[in-house]
Amino acid sequence: MRQRSSAANLYLVNSVAIYPGSFDPLTLGHQSVIERGAEVFSKLHVVIVHNPNKTPLFSVTERLEMVKLATKHLTNVEVSALETGLLVDRAKSLGAKVILKGFRTAGDIEYELPMAQVNRDLANLETVFMAAEPVHGYVSSSLVKEVAGLGGDVSGYLTPEVAKRLIERLSK
Ligand code: PNS
Repeated sequence: MRQRSSAANLYLVNSVAIYPGSFDPLTLGHQSVIERGAEVFSKLHVVIVHNPNKTPLFSVTERLEMVKLATKHLTNVEVSALETGLLVDRAKSLGAKVILKGFRTAGDIEYELPMAQVNRDLANLETVFMAAEPVHGYVSSSLVKEVAGLGGDVSGYLTPEVAKRLIERLSK
């Protein structure tokens, strides 16, 4: 039977995991993976990565603030930033044996699979994929930014704090 961390600090896996991403911004889909990951792994490091292939709306520092705020109730979650260097090196320095990733669709797996394979080649690091909850199955940071930019309601996809910051940023 699944033992929930909130009840007795017992986790499904006694292992440190790292959950990397751009989180530009953090969505409720990301948050769900963090909360569920924090129940599975004894320690979960959320790492905000500067992805040179993307032009972010929020700075790494702003994203760090938002993710820290949204995860402050999770005692076994730590948040940090990786502005340069390989994820596997950060994982090693944090003692993480597993990379946690969420997936929504087959398209996500196509995107994620080469990264998982490269990370295994580089450092023998395994990637564990967690299926998105159906309610978050179509939520992405880019779609949320597009909807907010066009004046749509994004309150169902973001925490109130993140939604507030996004609307403020887009109205500048
Ligand atoms: O949320 P994203 O932008 O799709 O996440 C991609 C990310 C940041 C996890 C990926 O680009 C990454 O791990 N970058 C760190 C640099 C690295 O280690 N690259 C080589 C292996 S993928």
